[in-house]
Amino acid sequence: MKKVLSGIQPSGQLHVGNYFGMMKPMISQMEKSELYVFIVDLHALTSVHDKEKLARGTLEAAADFLALGLDPEKCIFWVQSDVAEVCELSWILSTISPMGLLERCHSYKDKVAKGITASHGLFSYPVLMAADILLYQPDKVPVGKDQKQHLEVARDIAQKFNNQFGETFVVPEPAISQATAVIPGLDGQKMSKSYGNTIPIFLEGKELKKRVMAIKTDATPVDEPKDPDTCNLYALFKLFATEERLAEVHELYINGGAAYGYLKIELFEMLENFFAEARQKRTELLSDPASLRAILAKGADKAREKAAVTLDLVRDRVGLKY
Ligand code: ADP
Ligand code: TRP
Repeated sequence: MKKVLSGIQPSGQLHVGNYFGMMKPMISQMEKSELYVFIVDLHALTSVHDKEKLARGTLEAAADFLALGLDPEKCIFWVQSDVAEVCELSWILSTISPMGLLERCHSYKDKVAKGITASHGLFSYPVLMAADILLYQPDKVPVGKDQKQHLEVARDIAQKFNNQFGETFVVPEPAISQATAVIPGLDGQKMSKSYGNTIPIFLEGKELKKRVMAIKTDATPVDEPKDPDTCNLYALFKLFATEERLAEVHELYINGGAAYGYLKIELFEMLENFFAEARQKRTELLSDPASLRAILAKGADKAREKAAVTLDLVRDRVGLKY
């Protein structure tokens, strides 16, 4: 059975882009793969320096995943910082990671270009991510397109290590689905917690409606034809509509008659219904944090067992076993 692994940062409310780009593809692997899913709180520390926010975000991200259908009995589900082995591997990998490779990474370069002082943690973020991955020896890593470069760094580091110290790591493949590689946000840019353009999965009622109504559209009059392929309202609509309804709306775009306001209300209603059951489950899960913590602790025990095997081999390879 193939090993599949991916992680998500608990740095804010998880959104529709996270759901289609990563959470849904991971959940759909449950029956087919040996599945590793984790919440990367150590990575979130590069941007969240608020104790309450990080701790709450971690529990909420766990509840989100479980509410959306992840079954902890059918995968290994844990919080990154509960398996400290990852930090040791991260250090070892950092000693063979070229500065130039990390200097080329977008997440670091973009922050520097914006004049934000980058911390050492942000600079070495891709090395910790490589350690996250390589520690569990997965074959595939499902992510959105924005993580492609980080995956390439992880592959480079794995190959470099294997060349230097002998075959040790599986070189993982990214799994990026074309259809959901980049879900647009309210403004048409990639939906992202850091751009403030998200539709959070579990938002509801008035607040959800406000977000949906804020989706940017052009000023083409209702009766005129519009291009569905460049419209971010259409891109979001497509994720939730039935095939039949989508075909109708597609016609309206092409021939004229698509009224953005009405389509937004329809999208709002679809969003509320689509996540209704999960929303209720999430509320139940969050009302019992002790049980949530117990699920995560059990997951961490399983993950640690796997991590120990790789780390033991790595320690041996580099000469840390004397
Ligand atoms: P954000 O950009 O909101 O901080 P993360 O970096 O935590 O999101 O991403 C978690 C996972 O969700 C990653 O696999 C990422 O590729 C995926 N993802 C995030 N935003 C999108 C999007 N707009 N479209 C597709 N996938 C996305
Ligand atoms: N950097 C990823 C993101 O922001 C999160 C992440 C950390 C991750 N470690 C990982 C994703 C390992 C896949 C595998 O989305």
